[in-house]
Amino acid sequence: MSKFFSERFSALTPYTPGEQPREKKYIKLNTNESPFPPSEAVVEAIANEARSLNLYSDPTLKELREALAATYGVEPWNVIATNGSDEALNFITMAYADRGFAFPDITYGFYPVFCTLNRVNYREIALKDDFSVDVEAFVSAPENVIIANPNAPTGINLPLSDIERIVSSKTDRIVVIDEAYVDFGGESAVKLIGEHPNLIVVGTFSKSRSLAGGRLGFAIAAQELISDLDAVRFSTNPYNVNRLTLKAGAAALADAQYYKNNAAAIVETREYTAEKLKNMGFEVLPSKANFLFVRSDKIAGGELYRRLKDRGVLVRHFTLPRIADYNRVTIGSRAEMEAFLTETEDILNEIR
Ligand SMILES: Cc1ncc(COP(=O)(O)O)c(C=O)c1O
Repeated sequence: MSKFFSERFSALTPYTPGEQPREKKYIKLNTNESPFPPSEAVVEAIANEARSLNLYSDPTLKELREALAATYGVEPWNVIATNGSDEALNFITMAYADRGFAFPDITYGFYPVFCTLNRVNYREIALKDDFSVDVEAFVSAPENVIIANPNAPTGINLPLSDIERIVSSKTDRIVVIDEAYVDFGGESAVKLIGEHPNLIVVGTFSKSRSLAGGRLGFAIAAQELISDLDAVRFSTNPYNVNRLTLKAGAAALADAQYYKNNAAAIVETREYTAEKLKNMGFEVLPSKANFLFVRSDKIAGGELYRRLKDRGVLVRHFTLPRIADYNRVTIGSRAEMEAFLTETEDILNEIR
């Protein structure tokens, strides 16, 4: 850190993304990407648009807003598109700073980073012993709320009735539902937007829509809230979503069936993998996401992570004390999961 770095960033611990190794080809089950490539229509849309890269992207995001609105059954003014959903979350913490935020102690690691970056107070509310969200604690929290649903890295899903209770219990605060993983078996809160002017649903194209490298996210909310977020966007980067990604997003939405089929395949592989791991003696949390959060009495979380890495399989291990025994395993293709299961079984046999 240089002597010039602003004093106000002294408490900042930047987010640590999952490993993206370039030196060797791994079976990559560590950052919840899709094992499926984008659809052909998306690849074509990007190739065609490349000819126009001399021109800025559309700052009004018109085409993509309209396509998202049609997909989610809302109006274009209920939607904003962002550079990954990370950017939407960053804008939200900037826009609604005054009340501070509350979120679970075990959840997506970027929430506290955005709060610290933007000098926003935050409070972490402990997950219950079974790793489910403490709904009552969020019902009574005076702060704005962020809940990932399904939660990460647990994969546990809250029913919509609980979300609605949290949203409607205090209407003078914002409730953000981060639905990065909703397409793998959750139920979207977008249908509550009409009745709840304090609700923001955040989504991403990085998981079920195979566009992690394209960086595309969105938020859906009442028009007034979207105007707030647009004010922050135009004060940050009016061209926040590049031309290629805007076209890719619209093409992906038009190819909905391809992505639905892929999500269904991932869900099927998830259930298959969960069953196999349970047969090996693993505890597997009930997941509605494209990953499993797993633990074994036979081997420590960090040890399994390291041994799998040595064998060319990357999973995600977190060192937070409450979850250090676990690993988060992204659901890849069936062949990748077979390889992961074989290596895991081998490792367990080795240490026996
Ligand atoms: C819960 C959750 N929210 C948001 C994101 C960010 O996704 P992106 O910025 O790629 O849209 C992630 C990424 O893994 C996530 O796990």
